[in-house]
Amino acid sequence: MPLLSRCERLELLSSCGSLGPDPSSRHFTKRTKSIAYVMCIEGQWFQLRADFFSQPQQYNDFSGGYKRFYRELPAEFLGCRATQKLLTAFQQTYQLPEKELILVQVQTSHVNSDNVDQCLTGQGIHSDGADRAMLVCLQRDNVTHAENAIYHDLHGHQAVLEPFILPEGHGLLWQDNRAFHHVAPAQLADPQREGSRTVLIAHYPAFHYLAGKTNPNNTLGTNQVADNRRLRLQH
Ligand SMILES: [Fe+2]
Repeated sequence: MPLLSRCERLELLSSCGSLGPDPSSRHFTKRTKSIAYVMCIEGQWFQLRADFFSQPQQYNDFSGGYKRFYRELPAEFLGCRATQKLLTAFQQTYQLPEKELILVQVQTSHVNSDNVDQCLTGQGIHSDGADRAMLVCLQRDNVTHAENAIYHDLHGHQAVLEPFILPEGHGLLWQDNRAFHHVAPAQLADPQREGSRTVLIAHYPAFHYLAGKTNPNNTLGTNQVADNRRLRLQH
């Protein structure tokens, strides 16, 4: 769905400041990332100070079981009207309850001629272990492809949404405990220069990412582990 105008996208990007390092991306396309835990109380958005998330080992066998630290998004991020518009759209679409934590991540994939064709996420078809999720494209520069898709199954035989390019300002919302998702490798429009793609991702609920526990409402990860695949929060 279309969510942000060009002006709103630019305001939101500016409110994030410079994104922090993402050491886990050394395994795939270089990425920078900042995060925020947010909560809506009586229609107002608040941020919980926490600079990490943690996944149980069964979801992530090489970087699970311990805290991974990221730069926190600054107060300007949640003060930005465009940010509030996105979070409210997410909340209203799924009737998410107030006073519940949502994890928000803003991240840029830096694509160049060396890493083009690499996986953007380090993952195949997967679930993030949440109940509901939202992905919004904030900017693309010199990047083509990186199509998103939603599937009923881990093998991609039954598509809910066939692969498509998420345009700038548009959002993809999905039930993360009922369907799997995928992002295809990016390509450079002009191979002579670098490209970038920035997205905002929101996950509900988020208490389990702070506690390093499993989400009892999402059993897709169990199937995935049984299928000897990797389930990771990192996109
Ligand atoms: Fe994901």
